[in-house]
Amino acid sequence: MDKKIVFSGIQPTGNIHLGNYLGAIKNWVDMQDKYKNIFCIVNSHAITIKQDPNILKEQTINLACMLLACGISPKKSSLFIQSNIDEHPALAWILDCNIQMGDMSRMTQFKDKSSKNPRNINVGLFNYPALMAADILLYQVDLVPTGSDQKQHIELARNVAIKFNKDYGKCFKVPEPLILQEGARVMGLDNPKVKMSKSIKSPNHAIFLLDSNDEIKRKIKKATTDSNSNIVFDESRVGLYNLLGIYETLSAKSRIQIESEFEGKGYGEFKNTLIDVLIEVLSPFREEYKRLQDNKDYVLNILNDGVESVRPLAKSTYDKAKELVGLL
Ligand code: TYM
Repeated sequence: MDKKIVFSGIQPTGNIHLGNYLGAIKNWVDMQDKYKNIFCIVNSHAITIKQDPNILKEQTINLACMLLACGISPKKSSLFIQSNIDEHPALAWILDCNIQMGDMSRMTQFKDKSSKNPRNINVGLFNYPALMAADILLYQVDLVPTGSDQKQHIELARNVAIKFNKDYGKCFKVPEPLILQEGARVMGLDNPKVKMSKSIKSPNHAIFLLDSNDEIKRKIKKATTDSNSNIVFDESRVGLYNLLGIYETLSAKSRIQIESEFEGKGYGEFKNTLIDVLIEVLSPFREEYKRLQDNKDYVLNILNDGVESVRPLAKSTYDKAKELVGLL
């Protein structure tokens, strides 16, 4: 039986953090043998926020190095850059003409990003979910593994696929979101009431995959908790709950195992154990990242092979959509 197709994307907008890793990249790596995998560095999405062009180019290649360092294997997955395939924006236009303003206006990420960038509320930022739907629908995808913040966008992609197939004839596979409970929403270390995010610049907010061991240690030690002392999964104790969730995902232990591991122990001991696990997992990524940075030609070759392996599918889906809507 043919393997199911998995597609996901990530923006090259700066340093990758633990939320990106636990919510998305780790799952992509863990599932590589099970599925046919397509992973996309979505640089066209990144320009919905003003970027320095040279830095954007550099970050696009750096992100490829980081994804490979985390374990994306070119033997098992196609990794490519979104702007290398023109069918993404071309299909987004056809989808734009089949999405209602009311549906697009409900997207919470637009509201969030436009309130953070009030001086650059551009049309691309509003239309972002149509481009994301095109990313997915071009590849006849079965599953889209992401963190929980992308759920609404995947829902829109499903809805436009269903409507398009009904209005014009079968063209797109209707994708399913794949959002695992563990790691789906990693919260800020300094403020566990908000999602860990690249755009929050305070020094103790996020752990980045390129942080040194000392930075990891400092950030976990400073992470907000509460005045209780027992180590248990209690959603109302948001800071501890977030740290325990990180430990649960990284250690692959069950909640019962974790609670018994720390029975009678306090925050100090728990945080030290978490620091050790984080360093054990993240430090090899840093080393491999540095090695790949010194081998850029190797990385560029992988991206080139990746784009050529997915191009025929993107073209055939786009050509079909174009034909169905009557474009010559
Ligand atoms: P982006 O680049 O913001 O994030 C990449 C992935 O990381 C996940 N993520 C998190 N998971 C858990 N906790 C967090 N704090 C956290 N922060 C980020 C995101 O859910 C995502 O899976 N719109 C997408 C990129 C995209 C895409 C696509 C994804 C474009 N086209 C098609 C899937 C399919 C985005 O901005 O992700």
